[in-house]
Amino acid sequence: MRTIGLLTSGGDAPGMNAAIRSVVRTSIFNKLKVMGIRHGYNGLLNGEVMEMDVSSVADIIHRGGTMLRTARCEEFKTEEGLKKALNIINVFGIDALVVLGGDGSFRGARSLEELGIPVICIPCTIDNDMGYTDYSIGFMTAVETVVDAISKIRDTSTSHGRANIVEVMGRKCGDIALYSGLAGGAESIIVLETGINVDEVCKKIIQGRNRGKLHHIIVLAEGIKNPYEVSDEIKDKTGAEVRVTTLGHIQRGGTPTSFDRIMASRMGHKAVELLLNNKSGRALGMKCNKIIDISLEEALKVEKIFNKDMYNIAKTLSI
Ligand code: ADP
Ligand code: F6P
Repeated sequence: MRTIGLLTSGGDAPGMNAAIRSVVRTSIFNKLKVMGIRHGYNGLLNGEVMEMDVSSVADIIHRGGTMLRTARCEEFKTEEGLKKALNIINVFGIDALVVLGGDGSFRGARSLEELGIPVICIPCTIDNDMGYTDYSIGFMTAVETVVDAISKIRDTSTSHGRANIVEVMGRKCGDIALYSGLAGGAESIIVLETGINVDEVCKKIIQGRNRGKLHHIIVLAEGIKNPYEVSDEIKDKTGAEVRVTTLGHIQRGGTPTSFDRIMASRMGHKAVELLLNNKSGRALGMKCNKIIDISLEEALKVEKIFNKDMYNIAKTLSI
């Protein structure tokens, strides 16, 4: 094993750059060559491959996004696309691949593994929707961003005595809503995993108002119900003034937290270490502050369990 290929795929996540830096520098330290592939699997199909050196990853540890850029690529899911990818991998003499991304990217990596290419996957997604790991790179940074927004919204919510809906990302996973709702002291957290009960939210708004509460922050995970419809329902049932903020892609950018930088540095280092020990088809994760590796196949099977205890704590604390 002499040459490692490295790519970032799917939605970008803050901390990807720290992981890229770690893979590149650990490889070079161990006398391996690293080929950076731009624009994920799309770039792989187009041969967007360049050699990386120690200075090509200078000054990126603190930056959000991914210096390798990213993409989503439908062609890669086809047999033709995979064949094309295999050709490029051979042309550039790539012996193994490190893939940074979410579960979709992991599935792509597994297809390559099945064709005989050694791969290691590093979980990078703000959604934290992969069940085998406590955290994915980018999640904690996204939570910080949302908490910062909630604190600001709370100021104006209190001043006007309003209810404010803050819609957050997460695809089908409620973790961003749950963690940011708890940390931000939100009065209501609405996630797919527990379902939506607008009447319960309304009851809480009325009870809060009766005891002199000035604001009501509702964190709503995306994809459950249109936030403006929820807003109208609350207005009709409580008479409260309601405002909606959809945080959108703000949650995907920004400087990664130390937590994400450290986890990314540890995982990048571990990825190279595994390849040096002839291990492949592994997904890295974090469990109880330890960096773990499990088979890619298993990682893709582990169901994500919603933390109901944490949800109940948030409920208790927001009475
Ligand atoms: P994420 O990695 O963030 O979950 P996506 O689900 O969009 O993002 O997946 C990123 C890319 O991974 C896709 O655009 C596609 O190129 C590749 N991919 C996803 N699913 C598969 C699959 N089942 N087989 C092969 N490649 C896949
Ligand atoms: O998977 C990360 C994520 O930001 C989700 O939270 C969100 O649903 C989706 O990606 C948005 O994707 P796009 O990049 O297509 O806007």
